[in-house]
Order: sequence, then structure tokens, then C-alpha cells
Amino acid sequence: MSLKALPEKDGDTSGCGDMADKLITIFGGSGFVGRHLVRTLASQGWRVRVAVRDIRKAHFLKPAGDLGQIALVPASISDPASIAAAVEGADAVISLVGILYESRKRTFETVHEKGAELVARAAMSAGVRRLVHVSALGANANSPSSYARSKAAGERAVATAFPSATIIRPSVVFGPEDGFFNRFGSIAQKLPVLPFFTDTIPHLPGGGGPKFQPVYVGDVAAAITAAVSDPHHLGKTYELVGPRVYDMRDIMQIVNRETMRNRAIVGLPYLAAEIPARIFGFIRTLVEKIPPVSLRAPFLTPDQVALLRLGNVASGTLPGLEAFGITPTAAEVVVPTYLKRFRPIQQTKRLRLQHRNG
Ligand SMILES: NC(=O)c1ccc[n+]([C@@H]2O[C@H](COP(=O)([O-])OP(=O)(O)OC[C@H]3O[C@@H](n4cnc5c(N)ncnc54)[C@H](OP(=O)(O)O)[C@@H]3O)[C@@H](O)[C@H]2O)c1
Repeated sequence: MSLKALPEKDGDTSGCGDMADKLITIFGGSGFVGRHLVRTLASQGWRVRVAVRDIRKAHFLKPAGDLGQIALVPASISDPASIAAAVEGADAVISLVGILYESRKRTFETVHEKGAELVARAAMSAGVRRLVHVSALGANANSPSSYARSKAAGERAVATAFPSATIIRPSVVFGPEDGFFNRFGSIAQKLPVLPFFTDTIPHLPGGGGPKFQPVYVGDVAAAITAAVSDPHHLGKTYELVGPRVYDMRDIMQIVNRETMRNRAIVGLPYLAAEIPARIFGFIRTLVEKIPPVSLRAPFLTPDQVALLRLGNVASGTLPGLEAFGITPTAAEVVVPTYLKRFRPIQQTKRLRLQHRNG
């Protein structure tokens, strides 16, 4: 969706209402949410500076804006000098950096807490007026998941270093490059079943597994853009969720329908996820000690199983997309546009023929 620049409020000069020639620095701009956000900010007239570890991997962002509107600068979330250089002269900063699993080199604490704190401190020292920090729905200091605990610690660190920061907690984000529906689409393509995990007997009420409220990446990008543009959002925390709550069985039914695979949807106990996740996690820590070996992302870690089990729906106590004037987009509207790549080739061809013959 497109969102017009929001005006500053009378007497409040801490927002960035007039975007002409305003400079914004984004950390984590090369990721899934980042690529949509860079495009949205550029369309609103911001000059966008994307701070990345590897500039070559972020060149794809350049066409998202006019000539010279998007600049790539090298920065590491663990290097204060590079962060300071990246925020120098910026009117606003957005911190999107996040990881889904830990490795020998990067832990949740170093990325979600220390990294977020370094960005917030650097933004404060540089006199940046607006900071938006992207956390996650379910961030909680008492969570059984270390991902969720580290996100809560990051929020605290940011609020201490930059009290007027806006904290955004998105639910599971969906969109063409997501790691959620695409992952299940890929499973539907490769396996004869679509498994999900549940604490209850699958066919009893409530046996559809944990509940989720996925939010569209375009809505998240629009909300973050509004957050940096309007001082009304200073110092507030938002939970960004989609319009509908689904359990895992509902999600698998969407995947089945859109991939035209008609797989059997099978509820399994969590142990079926936990045991392999622990075994592969143990092997991974051993292999990681061999320096030249570079590992692919793990399929599921024990911490991700813990997170999955909790589900991910709005608490109902914090404002959401409506506070930005955004009507949440339903998964059913967008997911079909990209899950179709997992359809059997014959079905795709048949559809094309039907379409051509009217
Ligand atoms: N996607 C979701 O469903 C979802 C849900 C809730 C919250 N969030 C949060 O939203 C934010 C953006 O998510 P996303 O889906 O866009 O994530 P993503 O696609 O994995 O992108 C993460 C970004 O962080 C950067 N990054 C990771 N580790 C870094 C490090 N050590 N130093 C510097 N940069 C680093 C990555 O750069 P490289 O390319 O260099 O690795 C990438 O640009 C994250 O904070 C995430 O936790 C996402």
C-alpha cells in the first residue's frame, strides 16, 4: 500500500514530516523487510543510506530509488566506529537487524541486544531525531525462547539509550520473499505430507496447533515509514499483526490450496520436532568448530520449536496498524501471488490454457 507523508504536529519539531532531502540510515536494509522498506521510503522522497556488512550483496537495492537516492555504506553491528559513521548526518535511523538462530560468531545477545544498543547510542550521540527499532511480537523477558528474551532485552536497551525511540513488534511477516509460507510451499512441493506440531490430539478442538496472525510486509514497511515521519509515534510500542488469526492447520490448508498439491495435513507431537532439532543442533556445534566449513541455515532449532509452540498473536494491549491509518492486508490476498511457484507444472499450464481460452 502507499502512504502519503504524514505532517508534523504543531509545535513538535522532533518528527521528520517534510521528507524532501531528509536522510535516513537503515541497518538490516538488505533483508526481507528491508528491501520493501527501502522501496517505500524512497517512494516517499527520503534519501536512504543502507548500512550493510557486504555492499556487493546489497546492490540489488539501488534500483528501488532514483539515481543517487539510495547509498550503500559498509557497517557491522558489532563495530561502533562503523555504526557512528553510518548514522552521521542522518535525520532518522531504522534498526532492522535480526537473526533467527545463533552460531559460533553471532548470538542473540550480541545481535538483538548489544547491536541494537550500539545503534541507539550512536543515533543519540549523532543527534538523530527519530529512531525506529524493529523487535518482534512475543518479545518477553520471561519467554522460554531465548530469541524472544533477547528481543525484549534489545527493546529495553534501546529505550534506555534513546527514550523517544519507536518500537515495532511485527508478527510473522508474509510476502513474496518470506521464510514462512514459502517454506511450507517448498515442503508441499517435496514431501507427500504437510506436517504441523500440536500439543493436543490433532482431530480434537484446539488440535490445529499454535495460532498465528501473519502481517503483510507491505503493511510493515508502510507502518515503519509512518513511524519515522510523524512525532505522534515517539516513544511508543506497536504490535503489527494481520487481520486474521490462523492455527497451523489453517496455514497448511492455505498452502495446500495455493500450491495445488493436496497433501495430507498431519498433526505431530512436538517431540517429533524437538528430537531432530536437538540432534542436528549438537552436530552443528561440533561441525562449526571446523573453521573452513560454512553451514547452511538450520531447518529448525530447539529455540525455534519453543517459539513455534508459543504461537504469535497480538496481546491486544498495544496499538497496531490502525494507529498508522493502515488497513491490514489478509494473507489470502497476497499469498496466492507467490505460492503458485510451488504448483505442479501441469496445473500451472492447465490454468494458463483455461485463462487463454476464456
Ligand atoms: N520476517 C519475520 O517474519 C519477522 C517477524 C518478527 C520480527 N522480525 C524482525 O524484523 C527484522 C527484519 O526481519 P527480516 O525478516 O527482514 O530479516 P532478514 O531477512 O533475516 O534480514 C536481516 C537483516 O539483518 C542483517 N544482519 C543480520 N546479522 C547481522 C549482523 N551481525 N550485522 C549486521 N547486519 C546483520 C542482515 O544482513 P546480511 O544480509 O548481511 O546478513 C539483513 O539485512 C528483524 O529484526 C527480525 O527479527 C521479522
